[in-house]
Amino acid sequence: MTLPTLLINTEPARWLPALRAAAPEMQFRPQAEIGDAADVDAILTWKVDPALIDALPNLRLLYAVGAGVDYLVDLARTRPQLQIARVVDDAVTGDVATLAVAGTLQWFRDLPAYAGQKQNELWHPLPVRSTADTTIGILGLGRIGRAIARAFQALGFRVCGWSRSIHRMEGVSTYTGSEGLHAMLPQAQVLVCALPLTAETEGIISAQVLGCLPPKSFFVNVGRGLHVDEVALQAALDSGRLAGAFLDVFAEEPLAPGHSFWLDARVQITPHVASRTRPSRVAPQIIDNLLRLRTGQPLLNLVRPEAGY
Ligand SMILES: NC(=O)c1ccc[n+]([C@@H]2O[C@H](COP(=O)([O-])OP(=O)(O)OC[C@H]3O[C@@H](n4cnc5c(N)ncnc54)[C@H](OP(=O)(O)O)[C@@H]3O)[C@@H](O)[C@H]2O)c1
Repeated sequence: MTLPTLLINTEPARWLPALRAAAPEMQFRPQAEIGDAADVDAILTWKVDPALIDALPNLRLLYAVGAGVDYLVDLARTRPQLQIARVVDDAVTGDVATLAVAGTLQWFRDLPAYAGQKQNELWHPLPVRSTADTTIGILGLGRIGRAIARAFQALGFRVCGWSRSIHRMEGVSTYTGSEGLHAMLPQAQVLVCALPLTAETEGIISAQVLGCLPPKSFFVNVGRGLHVDEVALQAALDSGRLAGAFLDVFAEEPLAPGHSFWLDARVQITPHVASRTRPSRVAPQIIDNLLRLRTGQPLLNLVRPEAGY
């Protein structure tokens, strides 16, 4: 059997050693050493230039190195011979959930305010917010949204979640559709976005959606920056609808100098660091899928281009 060839389109210095260690007999080529383009069966990538895809006549698989595939689905829609798979890793899921919880808790327990007090040697207790009185609303109940839900549940928060299809999760109130969203939002003192970016979810954090939240609520984004109407988010902060926000992702990255989010003390920022896939953890699943591709078996962790995720 001829083994498939994988072109590495992202960070070859990180990915090649892990892949070669896991399958020394297989062909992994950094893009700089592409060789005969007709050999390439699959690309391991984050974002890929459509011209490269068009230059690979036998390409059948785009392999996303992260959970988000928004950069790839449009490319596959117009090329029906291409499948998209993504790496799936509980460590990535856990890392994103950890940041969503950490971002929420620092606000929830007034840690920035106490850090300010410490600088001035002030001892000034603030009212204690209780987890039992606080509802977390999670947009997206996929791998990451469910992990976020479980983490908040374990701390005693009330949790509700919204997804495209209805999910059953013990102890979590679940919603779907536009009606479900509007039923969930008024309860969500903390709204966490863990959605994929699709035509349906782009701009979902709009003035209208933010206006449905309870006053002085908190917003966390570990999804994608383009989920958010950033002007509407700033207006919600300025009107007091939102007490604060924790943002890991932005419409434009890096966040532009002088952006209002840099200047607003109520906005906490991390530079898109919720997770980073570790090649050695996911190399075996990539190799398994490449072998499936070659032997005509169904691939694992496939993306549905028609759904956009
Ligand atoms: N900040 C970071 O560094 C970072 C790292 C990893 C991932 N992410 C982001 O997190 C996203 C989610 O990852 P995941 O692994 O949890 O994805 P996933 O397993 O595919 O789950 C996506 C969830 O969103 C729901 N959804 C999709 N479209 C919807 C719509 N129109 N209305 C309502 N719900 C909708 C899905 O509903 P169903 O369950 O009904 O299908 C599902 O529950 C990624 O796409 C990526 O953008 C960010």
